Amino acid sequence: MSQLQGEIISADAPLSNLGNYEEAYNNFKWEDVEKEFSWYQTGLINMAYEAIDRHVDLGKGGKIALRYSDASRDEAYTFQQMKDLSNQFTNVLRKHGISKGDRVFVFMPRSPELYVSMFGAIKAGAVVGPLFEAFMETAVKDRLEDSGAVAIVTTPALLGRVKIDELPLLKKIFLVGKDLEPIEGIIDYHAVMEQSSPEAEIEWVNREDGLILHYTSGSTGKPKGVYHVHNAMIQHYYTGKVVLDLKEDDVYWCTADPGWVTGTSYGMFAPWLLGVTNVIRGGRFSPSDWYNTIQSNKITVWYSAPTAFRMLMGAGQDVVEEYDLSSLRHVLSVGEPLNPEVVRWGLKVYGQRIHDTWWMTETGGQLICNYPSMPLKPGSMGKPVPGIQAAIIDDNGKVLPPHRMGNLAIRTPWPSMMRLIWNNAPKYEEYFRIPGWYISGDTAYMDEDGYFWFQGRIDDVINSSGERIGPFEVESKLLEHPAVAEAGVIGKPDPMRGEIIKAFISLMDGYAPSEELKAEIAKFVKEGLSAHAAPREIEFKDKLPKTRSGKIMRRVLKAWELNLPVGDLSTIED
Ligand code: WTA
Repeated sequence: MSQLQGEIISADAPLSNLGNYEEAYNNFKWEDVEKEFSWYQTGLINMAYEAIDRHVDLGKGGKIALRYSDASRDEAYTFQQMKDLSNQFTNVLRKHGISKGDRVFVFMPRSPELYVSMFGAIKAGAVVGPLFEAFMETAVKDRLEDSGAVAIVTTPALLGRVKIDELPLLKKIFLVGKDLEPIEGIIDYHAVMEQSSPEAEIEWVNREDGLILHYTSGSTGKPKGVYHVHNAMIQHYYTGKVVLDLKEDDVYWCTADPGWVTGTSYGMFAPWLLGVTNVIRGGRFSPSDWYNTIQSNKITVWYSAPTAFRMLMGAGQDVVEEYDLSSLRHVLSVGEPLNPEVVRWGLKVYGQRIHDTWWMTETGGQLICNYPSMPLKPGSMGKPVPGIQAAIIDDNGKVLPPHRMGNLAIRTPWPSMMRLIWNNAPKYEEYFRIPGWYISGDTAYMDEDGYFWFQGRIDDVINSSGERIGPFEVESKLLEHPAVAEAGVIGKPDPMRGEIIKAFISLMDGYAPSEELKAEIAKFVKEGLSAHAAPREIEFKDKLPKTRSGKIMRRVLKAWELNLPVGDLSTIED
């Protein structure tokens, strides 16, 4: 099926944590992993304890948990300090009436305070909701409203995007900033932290109690709140061990923001469950800054995304040679298809195999991966994590033989599987419409060696630079612009970003197409929703193709764009 199938890069680390893949897979039991946690006896659990406090109890309080840097800060925090600080914030939240099950959101750029607040909230038993700093008013409001958030931690620069007056349930606003002027109704984070004790009683919860809500996009409707529970730690811990291959002395860097599930499952939970030093670099992407981060921190394990690797590749080999990247021993990727070309480049220039991993916000943790001890086929996502049964099935649930394309599906359940879509049971059930299976929405095939190959999405969800964008959310925003009569949004293939957002728009009477109008409309989405949701391309049309029920046919728009046959048009309006 693919001309790349003959190409295999042999295993580079047979002594990795996983060891022989087949052996590990065949002998695996989740229960063996569970037994590594103290709560296995009591049943009472808290992610923050296992990720932070446990290492202090084991005598490793002096070890660096977090190394944070950006253009103006360069700080390190031990596990003991993370324990104390998160306790302080737990006390702050309790003092303000926040308790188990309350939704507490964090909306700020990466900073030590972000991680402290999240763990402080988790210790109080709250469900945390991380938001990208790039979100604008509408994006922020939709998520706070849907989740019924009672508290938010944010910064002075972002506060204006939180429409406090329109969110009656949002009672507490904590503001993280230096030398704040008092504002009525707003709590100064640093001031209250200073007065708070570093001793706190952890809220012990059940394995199935809520941990985190990640909003993500589907093809229809507003973003959905994907709800994960404390039990997910079993998967985070195990995959941290066998996929990230983390060991005691590793220095680990995950480049993802906690607004995205990679930035929590693998930017916070997995490394800290394994007691590993976690590096967080704030600020914007730049090749020299990233290489310098690897060099100056002596990063050993690095987890990033295809768009970033493609941009690094675009920056060329010369810049790589200015840095010493010899500390690296394991490199991984997630979020979009990883081109074989990038894998070959990584091997040549970093001397490293880039290990692709496949999973989703909904799956909570990695499911199909490449492992240091397994031969790697460039372009393939790898094989199921031990404990995970993956298959290609047709729409009736029939398992298809190798090389047949179909739905990429996972046998239910697994420890980090989402437990709810917040406020939306029908949406949740759609994923499980075939009994015994989770239907991912991705299409793929499996080859004769059991490697899975990604083919595409079944729905209209756009993946631009690894960010999932729901066309409906963008279309809704476009329709708020006075010039826009109709809007249809698709993903257009792009060599750097995987896909870019392209909008087809028909204009209201009285508006004429122009480049200025395109720019203005794009800006409108950027400022109302978020930069990554703004169309990079706009095309004006007199009319958009619609079904008789008035639904815009994105499939036809896509066919136009790609010069493909438009297919069955029996449901089209005229
Ligand atoms: C895509 C959370 C190809 C896929 C990590 C999936 C990938 C969606 C890969 C999830 C990969 C993720 N190869 N495609 N290795 N990993 N995807 O929830 O379409 O933001 O369904 O990612 O990203 O996006 P999410």
